Amino acid sequence: MCGIVGYVGKKNNCTNFLLEGLKKLEYRGYDSAGIAVANDRNLKTVKKKGFLRDLEPLINPERMKGSPGIGHTRWATHGEPSDENAHPHLSCEKRLALVHNGIIENYQELKQELKLKGHHFTSQTDTEVIVHLIEEHYQGDLYDAVKKGVKELRGSFAIAVISADDPDLLVAARYDSPLVVGIGKNEYFIASDIPAILKETRKVIILEDGEIVKAKPDGITITDFDGNLIEKEITEITWDAEAAEKGGYEDFMLKEIHEQPQVILNTMRGRVKEAKIILDEIGLPRELLKRLERMVIVACGTSYYAGLVMRNAVELFAKIPVDVEISSEFRYRPMLIDGRVLVVGITQSGETADTLVSLRQAKRVGFPILAIPNVIGSSAAREADGVLYTHAGPEIGVAATKTMTAQMVAGFLFALYLAGIKKTISDERREKFIKELLKLPRKVEAILDREDEVKQMAKKYKNYNNFLFLGRTYGLPAAYEGALKLKEITYVHAEGYPAGEMKHGPIALIDENVPVVFIATKGEVQDKIISNMEEVKARKGKIIAIATEGDKKVADLADDVIYVPWTFEAYTPLLAVVPLQLFTYYTGKLRGLNVDQPRNLAKSVTVE
Ligand code: AGP
Repeated sequence: MCGIVGYVGKKNNCTNFLLEGLKKLEYRGYDSAGIAVANDRNLKTVKKKGFLRDLEPLINPERMKGSPGIGHTRWATHGEPSDENAHPHLSCEKRLALVHNGIIENYQELKQELKLKGHHFTSQTDTEVIVHLIEEHYQGDLYDAVKKGVKELRGSFAIAVISADDPDLLVAARYDSPLVVGIGKNEYFIASDIPAILKETRKVIILEDGEIVKAKPDGITITDFDGNLIEKEITEITWDAEAAEKGGYEDFMLKEIHEQPQVILNTMRGRVKEAKIILDEIGLPRELLKRLERMVIVACGTSYYAGLVMRNAVELFAKIPVDVEISSEFRYRPMLIDGRVLVVGITQSGETADTLVSLRQAKRVGFPILAIPNVIGSSAAREADGVLYTHAGPEIGVAATKTMTAQMVAGFLFALYLAGIKKTISDERREKFIKELLKLPRKVEAILDREDEVKQMAKKYKNYNNFLFLGRTYGLPAAYEGALKLKEITYVHAEGYPAGEMKHGPIALIDENVPVVFIATKGEVQDKIISNMEEVKARKGKIIAIATEGDKKVADLADDVIYVPWTFEAYTPLLAVVPLQLFTYYTGKLRGLNVDQPRNLAKSVTVE
C-alpha cells in the first residue's frame, strides 16, 4: 500500500515533517518516494525510485523550503517502479501537485478523455489521471475542483492535493482507502496512517468514505462529495508509535489476517464488471488462451497450496487438465510437457529462486509463462509473458496470510476468465460464480467476527504437540495450508493429509494426544469426511472441525467446531483458511512466540 502525508499550517517549511512522516510509513513497504512543497507561488517537487535514503540527498534544504506540502511512498500497482511513476504527480501547468493511495479502475477511459482535451501525461500510473482531472475542473478554487473531480473516479483513492496559487490550502479526499487528519495548533496533518503524525499530535480525525477535507492554517472543514458539511469527532490516540504501525493490532500477522476482506476487494477491483471478468491486462493473446489444452502451475509453500486451489477452479470452470508442481522438484524433471500448455508461476514475492528457475526452464523450451506475483516489477513479473498481479499490498508478517487469499482470488478470476474465452460453462452458471466472488469479503468478515471462539479453542489445544489436518477435494488445500501455518508459527508438528489416505497409514497416529482438524464444509464428499471423523472418534482422537454454518451433523461429531458461511465448494478453501490462520496466530501467542518473525524463516526464499 502507498503512504501519503500532507501539511498545511504555521510552519513555513514542512519538508522535515513530510520526510519524518514518510519514514513512519516505511513499514508499509514501498519502491519509490517523493515530496512537493509550495513556495513563492511555485511548486517544488523531488521524487525518485528507491527509498527515502535515496531521496533525501536530492533534497536541497534551501530550494525545498515551503508549505503546504505533500509526500508519498509508492507501492506500485500500475506502472513499474521508476522516477516518472513516483508521486507526487503534477498537472500540465505544474500548478497542482497530488499524491494518491488506491487503485483507479476507470483510469484508461479518463486518460483518453483528458488527452483529447489536450492533457499530456508523463507516467504510466493510474494516479496521474486524477491530477489532470482536477486541473480540468480547476478555476482557481482547489476544493471545488477536487469535489468535481472525485465524482468521476471509480475505484479506491486517498488523495492530497496542493496548488501553487493557494499557499495556505491543502485539500484531501478519501474513498475506500484510509486517510486521517491530525489536528495541531494552527496546523493540520494528513496521512494514510496514524504513525506518520503521532510525533506532531495525538488528536486525530478518521476520515470516512466520501469525505473531503479543506485544510487551512486557521481551520478545517470536512464535507461530503456534494459539499455538505460534516461534523466529525476528534479521537485522542493513546497507542505508541509501534502499535500504531500495526493499526492497533498486536502483530502484523493479525493485522494482515484482518485485511483480507479489503485484499479480496482490491484484487477483484477493475476486474469484475457486470458479471464479466476483465483480465486483458495480463497480456496473453486470447487466441492462445482459447486454444489452451493444459496448464502447469509451479510454486512453493503456501503459494503451492494456492496453486491447488487454482487447479481445482480451472478444471471445474475451464475444463482443461492442470498439474501443480513444487518448484524445487519441477526444475529437475525433464521438460516432457508438450502441446498447448501454459506454465503459471504463483509467487507473492516474485523472487523465489526455485520458482524462477522453473519458469525460466519452461520458457526456454518455448512454453508461454503467466506469473501471479504480489510485487510489481519483481523478477517473475519481468520475465513472464503475462502477469496477473495480486493486490494484497506488502505483507510484513513472514507467514503468508492475506497474500494467499489474494492468490486464490486471482486463481478464481483467471479460471472464470478462461472459461469465458473457451465457453466451457454457460454464461448463466459463470455469472452465479462471479456474483458469489463479490460476496466473499463479507463472508470473511463474518468469520473474523468469530475470532474469540478461535482464541478460546487455541487456549484449549495450546499444549498439544502433534496435529493432523485432513480434507478432501476442494477442502484439501486448506488442510495443507492449516498444517503449514501451524508448523511455521508455533513449531508444533502438524501434517496436512488427504482424508481418504487415513486408512493407508496415518490412522495409526490417532489417539487422545493428536487433535485432528477436519475441513468438513458442505460438499459432494462430505459424507466421506464424516465417516473419517467417526473413525477418528472411535480411536479417542480429538476433532476440530471447520463446518458450514448450521451444519449440526458435523458439530455433533466434533469436540470443537468453527463455522464458516456457505459458499460454492470451489471457494471453500478461501473461507476455511481464515479460522486456521487465527488458530495458528493465537496458539503462537499463547506459546510466547514471535508470530511476525518465526525462527529459521525468511519472507522470500531467494536462494536455492
Ligand atoms: C508461507 O507462510 C511461507 N512463508 C512460504 O511457504 C511461502 O509461501 C513460500 O516461500 C513461497 O513464497 P513466494 O510466494 O514468495 O514464492
